[in-house]
Amino acid sequence: MDSAAAARAHEEEVQTYVHSQAHLLNKSSYNPLPTELPPPIAALSALGDMHVVVLIGLPEVGKPFLAKRMRQYLRFFHGADCALFDICENLDYPSVDESSAALSARISEWMLRNGGASNVPLGSPLLGDGESAPTYKGQKAVDSGRCAIVYGSDTYRAFEQKWSGSSKERRRWILDQVRAMSRSVKLVFVEVKVTDVTLMRNNVAIKRHAMGLPTCEEDFRRTEASIKEFAKLYVTLQQDGSEEDMSYVIFINYGQKVVTNRMHGFLRMRIAQFLSTIHTETHTIYLTRHGQSQYNQLGKIGGNSGVTEYGLDYARRLATFARETICREDGSNANKARLWTSSMRRTNETAQFIEHPEVTLPDGDKWVQMSHRVYRNLDEIFAGEYEGLTYEEVASRHKDEAFLRKVDKIGYRYPRGESYFDIISRLDPLIHELESYHEPTLIVSHQAVLRMLYAYLMGIDRMDAPRLSIPLHTVIKLTYNGWTQCVEQQVYLGPDVPKDEQST
Ligand code: F6P
Repeated sequence: MDSAAAARAHEEEVQTYVHSQAHLLNKSSYNPLPTELPPPIAALSALGDMHVVVLIGLPEVGKPFLAKRMRQYLRFFHGADCALFDICENLDYPSVDESSAALSARISEWMLRNGGASNVPLGSPLLGDGESAPTYKGQKAVDSGRCAIVYGSDTYRAFEQKWSGSSKERRRWILDQVRAMSRSVKLVFVEVKVTDVTLMRNNVAIKRHAMGLPTCEEDFRRTEASIKEFAKLYVTLQQDGSEEDMSYVIFINYGQKVVTNRMHGFLRMRIAQFLSTIHTETHTIYLTRHGQSQYNQLGKIGGNSGVTEYGLDYARRLATFARETICREDGSNANKARLWTSSMRRTNETAQFIEHPEVTLPDGDKWVQMSHRVYRNLDEIFAGEYEGLTYEEVASRHKDEAFLRKVDKIGYRYPRGESYFDIISRLDPLIHELESYHEPTLIVSHQAVLRMLYAYLMGIDRMDAPRLSIPLHTVIKLTYNGWTQCVEQQVYLGPDVPKDEQST
């Protein structure tokens, strides 16, 4: 048997859950009806729901942006199998009826493949439009279902296609199509409205920038005029009782106002909340690990040690960086900026020299600069019974466990501790808050947690996240608008740690 086959055989033998917890799944005198599966590990509450989400609205409101963001969020945080369906890719038919029916067939086929049973690997790579994922033997029988997200990349061209949902009649027709797929497929309309001119202009500028085109005043005026023309034909979701049997969210000016109707159910509620937090304005997020800790130096995992002399030096350098770079990002003397840390000693010690002056904003309001917010959600992965051990000690004392972590790093849960999926779960509410802000935010946290935040923001598959490198004494600056690819810049602040004092 070659080594890969031996590893596979061993994997099957040791099961894909934490070995030391296996006995908990067996019958005992006091627990004759035990839980048969290990605890859920994929941050999931709902199993196998199927949704069709249709984005509707006037042109230039950011429907493709929302479609992509929703897919990334649902896949990363909820393991949902999502596919995008761009109406404009289905227009090459002799008639509107034919192109509309063809898209119904594509969506239905994707949604109901394998009899509707989800077979997607949790956190498999992001798929292209209408693509589906391959089957995966190691799947842990949990998923957040399937979500087909329908949008038009060119609202003008897509107008007459029935899936554009641009009239009451077309929306009824979509409802009938979805019902015909299966009674268990649920339909949600998301109507996007942008009434704020600055937001609309921002959307136009981002879109043109992504196409490598500049934007001038004339472009804005032309766009505004054609939106007005379009609005004469488009029928907004009616709130007069005639469409209230449907599930919908009306989402105005990116979270300024949100109207929801029949948005019950786990995934629908997450969608509504997520959409109400995101916006397209470019902003920056700075990620950094704490300065070198005593446990880093000793190669121990977990714990709550303080920082070393090198870590303290980093803390001073970070404070200077915060004052001179983060708080002066817009070229002014003090733009608003935020600071988040975990609750652990090493991150608090790293943030201790950051200054918090009160500044007066252009509108006269006061703002405490980098006011320190402490979140337990940002604490390092809890290694349970292995806290304080080195990786070598884990490998020699708990061979099977070390092996399990190696083969399934994202799903592996430390005995009485956490897994990377658990981290994803506790970061979910935090990401909603982070998405809603516009000011630069510095996050001082830990290797495992930052891997997840970084991967989500960079659009990296969550399965690849646990092995990403997040170097010490480095600030990772992410310039983010959630629409175009996030731009990354790594700033190494030092100090260098001598080789013999580096460990983890
Ligand atoms: O080694 C530093 C550390 O933050 C540990 O406390 C933590 O257990 C570890 O990194 C997480 O990294 P990995 O998942 O690769 O073990």
